[in-house]
Amino acid sequence: MKILFKNKRILTKITFIKNNYSTAPKSLATLRIGEKDYRTDDYTNITPKILSYLNHNLHLKNDNPLSLVRRRIVNYFYSSFTHRGNPTFSVYDNMSPIVSTKQNFDDLLIPDDHPSRAKSDCYYINSTTLLRAHMTAHQSELLRAGLDNFLMIGDVYRRDEIDSTHFPVFHQIDAVRTQRKEQLFEQHPDLHIFEKNFEPTNPHTFKNSIADPTKQSCHTLEATKLMEVQLKNHLIGMVRHLFGEDIKYRWVEAYFPFTHPSWELEIFYENNWMEILGCGIVRNEILANAGPNNSIAYAFGLGLERLAMALYKIPDIRLMWSKDSGFLTQFQNKNVNANIVYKPVSIYPQCTNDLSFWLPSNSSIDTFTSNDFYDLVRDIGGDIIEQVKLKDKFIHPKTKKHSLCYSIVYRHLERTLTQAEVNKIHKEIEEAATKTFNVVIR
Ligand code: DAH
Repeated sequence: MKILFKNKRILTKITFIKNNYSTAPKSLATLRIGEKDYRTDDYTNITPKILSYLNHNLHLKNDNPLSLVRRRIVNYFYSSFTHRGNPTFSVYDNMSPIVSTKQNFDDLLIPDDHPSRAKSDCYYINSTTLLRAHMTAHQSELLRAGLDNFLMIGDVYRRDEIDSTHFPVFHQIDAVRTQRKEQLFEQHPDLHIFEKNFEPTNPHTFKNSIADPTKQSCHTLEATKLMEVQLKNHLIGMVRHLFGEDIKYRWVEAYFPFTHPSWELEIFYENNWMEILGCGIVRNEILANAGPNNSIAYAFGLGLERLAMALYKIPDIRLMWSKDSGFLTQFQNKNVNANIVYKPVSIYPQCTNDLSFWLPSNSSIDTFTSNDFYDLVRDIGGDIIEQVKLKDKFIHPKTKKHSLCYSIVYRHLERTLTQAEVNKIHKEIEEAATKTFNVVIR
């Protein structure tokens, strides 16, 4: 998973996908999803292929590796935090992935011009409704409902590159743990969560600042540090519970609009540092707006695919969607803590075809949105698309025409593809690209 909200990329011009290929919804005024009609507008970029991934709930399917990892993590949180024998965390794992821009961004203090809002990065149903890009989208509504310790688990959707570790749908666990002064400082009643000049009953009279890297201006250093220690210990405990006592890890300072201070946790896996989660102390504005304005909270979010791939040595993210019994039985009826190493069912060969085109004169190699192209490729090729790589950019010295070349790698996970079959799909992609982006195939 690529953590998207620290992305400082400058927004380039975002071109809208002209969904005039196949059965894409753009031409309709409304879009029916489940029982509900949504109006469409010039933000609509969700495709039929992406809609087909909704409601699968892989994280709740007993024979799916994502469900095994989910259960291990939930068990860890249940057993680590009990109050008189009852778990103190509640779990929400069945919330609709269709959310408002308020839930996904505004409630989390994500600025209007933040790159994570771009059409090129999210699947919008219309300008105010999208498929959640992270489970943090539900944080404020659950706080508002009066919850203090909870896990939010589900599918999230992001437009991204295509390779063995990226898929437009993946699964996250997000968590919040809040504490009031009596809980946090049970042993030290003389210590406080808030600085003296902060008036928690009226958050609007006090402007919280994050200029100091060590803490939010409303919080005391003691409260921040104690929360940081608890947060880090809980997460390291979780990683050891999953990967064993000897797992090597490191903390990296990070930035998220909704926490301060913030960190990322990396583990050393197959000779590389791999980032597995983001976390931090929840911005007090979020808590105050949602209700509990006398407490401090920490939060974190992690990607289940990455953990499952590392734990069970699963080489390709698309396998999470496999319906092949040879795959699923390896995870069926297993003790959640079982040490499972995935055995490849069989490896079928890849086919790679290149696709080069000239861009129309009003477009350039710097403004063309590759994510638009990736979605088109996936819409037509479906799950046999293993990878799409930008191979070459070229400006013709005389005509000054711009050209791009992409390599498309095709592989079926369950059978051998013939070259003729691949060529047919490749041709369809060429035709759709010509129509949609006004390009000329070279
Ligand atoms: N929502 C972030 C992402 O998807 C991850 C994250 C970071 C979640 C910090 C949190 C948090 O709850 O506190 O990239």
